[in-house]
Amino acid sequence: MRRLQWARAQDAADVLAPLRARFALPRGADGAPLVYLCGHSLGLAPHAARTLLEAELGHWEQQGVRGHEHPESHWIGYAEQLQRPLASLVGAQPHEVVAMNSLTVNLHLLLASFYRPAGQRRAILVEAGAFSSDRHAVASHIRWHGFDPALELIELSPRAGEDLIRIDDIEARIAALGPRLALVLWPGVQFRTGQLFDLACITRAAHAAGGSAGFDLAHAIGNIPLALHDDAADFAVWCSYKYLNAGPGAIGGAFVHQRHLQRDDLPRLAGWWGHDARTRFEMSPAFQAADGAAAWAVSNPPIFSAAPLRASLPLFAEAGMAALRRKSQALTGYFASLVSELAGERVASVTPADPAQRGCQLSLRIVDGATAGRALYQALSARGVVCDWREPDIMRVAPVPLYNSFEDVLRGAWTLCEQLPPRR
Ligand SMILES: Cc1ncc(COP(=O)(O)O)c(C=O)c1O
Repeated sequence: MRRLQWARAQDAADVLAPLRARFALPRGADGAPLVYLCGHSLGLAPHAARTLLEAELGHWEQQGVRGHEHPESHWIGYAEQLQRPLASLVGAQPHEVVAMNSLTVNLHLLLASFYRPAGQRRAILVEAGAFSSDRHAVASHIRWHGFDPALELIELSPRAGEDLIRIDDIEARIAALGPRLALVLWPGVQFRTGQLFDLACITRAAHAAGGSAGFDLAHAIGNIPLALHDDAADFAVWCSYKYLNAGPGAIGGAFVHQRHLQRDDLPRLAGWWGHDARTRFEMSPAFQAADGAAAWAVSNPPIFSAAPLRASLPLFAEAGMAALRRKSQALTGYFASLVSELAGERVASVTPADPAQRGCQLSLRIVDGATAGRALYQALSARGVVCDWREPDIMRVAPVPLYNSFEDVLRGAWTLCEQLPPRR
């Protein structure tokens, strides 16, 4: 009771708390909102998403093909309208970002430009246990160039007995690869452990070795403040169905640093939407690249998967990323302290304890083993706590500052600890 009062007092004092009402909260069979702690997988729907989707449907019904140029719908310029808010989330200039496709497709497009193996310089460094799609993508590019991923795909593991990769070890491996290094592809926040990485440091090390640095921001965008331009990252890609709340399979995005935007020597896979918008419809056989990262766009944008993103991005501007980050650290810190107090040695957090080295997510390992962990995850699900399970032994929870409350955190952590086997 004392805890519940405390959590409710935090919510009452939280200036961001009213934003929760701007989201649809999934409900259980009894009609009560679930404790949704799964924004690291699929963010919740802003109510405005329905409004904007219905508006686009209406434009299609009423204007047909004229919707492309009609001032109300303006589908031709739809992706451009996402550039500014996305740029502010990733710390870029608007012309360095483009909304297009989905994450892995964008990764392929940027690998086509930035993975140019030459001589001995053909290795790609990734973290061991990288998201499968990223690994498939980089391995396929190595093969595409006629090389063997068994030799050129280098996977850096944590030290024996550790879960997290030390930044010193990343720098040391990059330096050791030296003239062999073509590219480092690294996550902003690692999907399994929730570890947040110093992108500036990784970029510096990659450049010092003569390679490039690209980032997968699937778990970072909308979760932590980013500064891709100042960090000098070469490129980055992301999806927008996690912390950006744009819905399943929503339009992804990409960043290309300004210093690459005017390069004639950088090959690019092209399509008509990457052509200069001013002359695109002349349909000339000669490709004239659009200014900025938009040159990497290939096809016209999927309006129905972009409309929910237009509904969600203004909420970040309204709240401010610094305030969201402060609340996120408070919520995740509260979850971590409740688990440590209530579960003791029965649950180990794999995610860094230092708030500066993590985002919203906590990755928890149930000390009694993977079978007990999976059973616990199922018990939580049956009790209306939505989180997820990553094989072999990780339960992921993520309080999201846009829509989660301190009371959600208390209920989630309390239910988790209640379902644990008794202390020995
Ligand atoms: C870290 C990471 N990379 C890549 C992907 C793949 O994204 P997509 O299916 O949009 O290509 C995901 C999807 O969840 C992810 O979490």
